Amino acid sequence: MRVLVTGGAGYVGSVSVERLVEAGHEVVVLDNHATGFGSPDLTGAELVDGTYGDRDAVQRLLEDRGIEAVLHCAARSVVPESVRNPSLYYVENVQGGIALLEAMRLAGVNRLVISSTAAVYGVPEEVPIPEDARLQPINTYGETKRTLETAAGWYASAHGLRPVALRYFNVAGASERNGERHEPEPHLIPNLLTSVRTGLPFTLTGVDYPTPDGTTIRDYLHVLDLAEAHRAALEATVPGDPRTDGLLALNLGSGRGFGVREVIAEVERVLGQRLEVREGPRRGGDPPALVAKIDRAREVLGWTPERSTLEAMIGSAWAYQARREPAAPADS
Ligand SMILES: NC(=O)c1ccc[n+]([C@@H]2O[C@H](COP(=O)([O-])OP(=O)(O)OC[C@H]3O[C@@H](n4cnc5c(N)ncnc54)[C@H](O)[C@@H]3O)[C@@H](O)[C@H]2O)c1
Repeated sequence: MRVLVTGGAGYVGSVSVERLVEAGHEVVVLDNHATGFGSPDLTGAELVDGTYGDRDAVQRLLEDRGIEAVLHCAARSVVPESVRNPSLYYVENVQGGIALLEAMRLAGVNRLVISSTAAVYGVPEEVPIPEDARLQPINTYGETKRTLETAAGWYASAHGLRPVALRYFNVAGASERNGERHEPEPHLIPNLLTSVRTGLPFTLTGVDYPTPDGTTIRDYLHVLDLAEAHRAALEATVPGDPRTDGLLALNLGSGRGFGVREVIAEVERVLGQRLEVREGPRRGGDPPALVAKIDRAREVLGWTPERSTLEAMIGSAWAYQARREPAAPADS
């Protein structure tokens, strides 16, 4: 299959490109380098510079390359920034997303997998969260993802789009070639590893949540398991497959939740180093617990998050950071 991966130079996109190339698919990456940092290894794929928000250019690209399916990973995805600057998030994630849907419609491409997020649920009424839980996002980021999912559903009924929205929980870990790098880095595991490497203290953002250790509980998914889910979801969009006759929404997580103190203890155990931890106030807008119910992805895609142990995610992310920023020689 010939696949266009938007945001394929970013963290999730680059590891997914690796998996798709390995599975024998032809991959074109479209990225404008707005938020991806570093130089991902995209061996085997073609890299095109540009935005998915340019409808005409994307239509031409889809037609020129004979693209059959789109994996839409590109987005703005920093929650506090989305709350400060809703316009950027509506223009990029919604207006840009609709331009992409239009380009696909005009080019006659109807197979689509969207990177969505647990942020569409807001503060859930039940945990683990099933896909049919109410969608009530509490920040602009989650709202724009919900809007794009909904639009894809309407394009399905009006134009025969075959969309899958994959609602990721917390993605972590790295492949042998690509990994996570954001500036600023909003995610727990890379920030803990940076504290280990620099010796700077790590501050807990809230220790009075109604959870066993007082910190927020999150569900961590190995980026390699996510890449495999992308591959399986793209294959489920093939015309005639009843799974994608309308919008198919699937949670992707490990199905297990960990408090921040548990993740810290595991980082210390895996790396054999101690972290200096301080207690700070809540950030605001953080739900106490977000854990995925993943039965639907298991059943519908035949997918299992087999690599998503904290140990594997921490170990691979540590190896990736070390490759990127090798330790200075002791005597320099
Ligand atoms: N990382 C996570 O834990 C997580 C969790 C839930 C959902 N997601 C979603 O997964 C997707 C990928 O996240 P990530 O962590 O890899 O982010 P990332 O910032 O590393 O990658 C996004 C990529 O998209 C590109 N991009 C942004 N705007 C673009 C545009 N207009 N045109 C073309 N390219 C553009 C960026 O340059 C970057 O390379 C996002 O949609 C995000 O909302 C990520």
